[in-house]
Amino acid sequence: MKAAVLETPQGLEYLKIREIEEKGSVGKIRIKVIQTGINPVDYNLIHGKIIYGINPIPHIPGTECYGTALSSGHSIREGDSVIVYPRLYDGTCDFCLDGHEELCINGGLFGVNTNGSYAEEIYVDERNVYRVSGIDKDLAGSIPVGGLTAYHAIKRTRPREGESILVYGASGNTGIWAVQIAKSMGLKVIAVSGKSWISEYGADKVYRIDEIPEDLKTEIVMNSLGGSVFADSLHHIQRGGRIVTFGIYNGKESTLDLSRVYSSEISIFGTTGGSRDDMNDILKLARTGKIRMPVEKRFDLKDIREAMTQFKSKSTGRIVIEPTNA
Ligand SMILES: NC(=O)c1ccc[n+]([C@@H]2O[C@H](COP(=O)([O-])OP(=O)(O)OC[C@H]3O[C@@H](n4cnc5c(N)ncnc54)[C@H](OP(=O)(O)O)[C@@H]3O)[C@@H](O)[C@H]2O)c1
Ligand SMILES: [Zn+2]
Repeated sequence: MKAAVLETPQGLEYLKIREIEEKGSVGKIRIKVIQTGINPVDYNLIHGKIIYGINPIPHIPGTECYGTALSSGHSIREGDSVIVYPRLYDGTCDFCLDGHEELCINGGLFGVNTNGSYAEEIYVDERNVYRVSGIDKDLAGSIPVGGLTAYHAIKRTRPREGESILVYGASGNTGIWAVQIAKSMGLKVIAVSGKSWISEYGADKVYRIDEIPEDLKTEIVMNSLGGSVFADSLHHIQRGGRIVTFGIYNGKESTLDLSRVYSSEISIFGTTGGSRDDMNDILKLARTGKIRMPVEKRFDLKDIREAMTQFKSKSTGRIVIEPTNA
């Protein structure tokens, strides 16, 4: 079977389609990969800008996977439509036992600390495989990273119905999910985006980043853009409000006005991915049929370099790779 193999994490020219042989083992489900997404983590991994250790090298990237089970396990049956929960976890440390697999001390990320899904077929531990029958392919394909991360982040701020949330990067994979999740929780959603189409996904108001009204204040801010954009957004949090981050899109360093943080009693939350419970919640939400995910372009596996290049200039939806036909 074919896979996109990164010889060394130093750029797209080292990503090559190769014929490889993968073997299964006890407890693993063989999956035919129908759709695999591109996320900043995949792009950064290929370009040597990842903060976790990559394993193995040479490496098959791909953290987000939707496919069909080609083998059966305890509960997964051959033929099931499935996605992969991307957090690696031991299930035995204090964090896992407390329902926080995303913080597992022996944990990691599928596609980073293991080979991922830029391949025609993969083998995954059954406990990381979730059935998604009845969920649209493009939506299901965006759950493992985009949906899970956005849900966990918003949940961490303990939103209350009627509150307002300011979502930065609203047209991205996490942003589109965040807008719709927040709406489903009864929040007023203000999107920060250069794309006005995000209002079709439930945003009550959309502002370009340089046009946010000076006096706009919300109870919750979701900002994974990092750098100075993170610091600027403190200005838009109401007294007693909360800000959540899970990314450093524009840089990991930010200079904060701490007097504003303490005098307005602002809480800052960091989150990463989500737990297995979050995964079940997001699947329930996806099954309501009320969430949508736009795809701008689908690429064959052989065109993965072109897909990666296009990822940086996407403007109407996701860029996905479809290694095999449904
Ligand atoms: N820790 C985790 O578990 C985790 C999981 C997922 C993602 N992340 C991180 O979260 C961040 C967002 O991920 P994503 O998947 O949503 O990314 P994405 O799909 O690439 O979207 C990022 C969005 O950010 C906005 N943007 C980009 N540059 C900007 C700038 N200079 N100023 C203002 N807005 C800008 C754009 O939206 P507009 O055109 O709408 O402005 C863009 O669509 C990344 O840093 C990613 O690594 C972390
Ligand atoms: Zn653990």
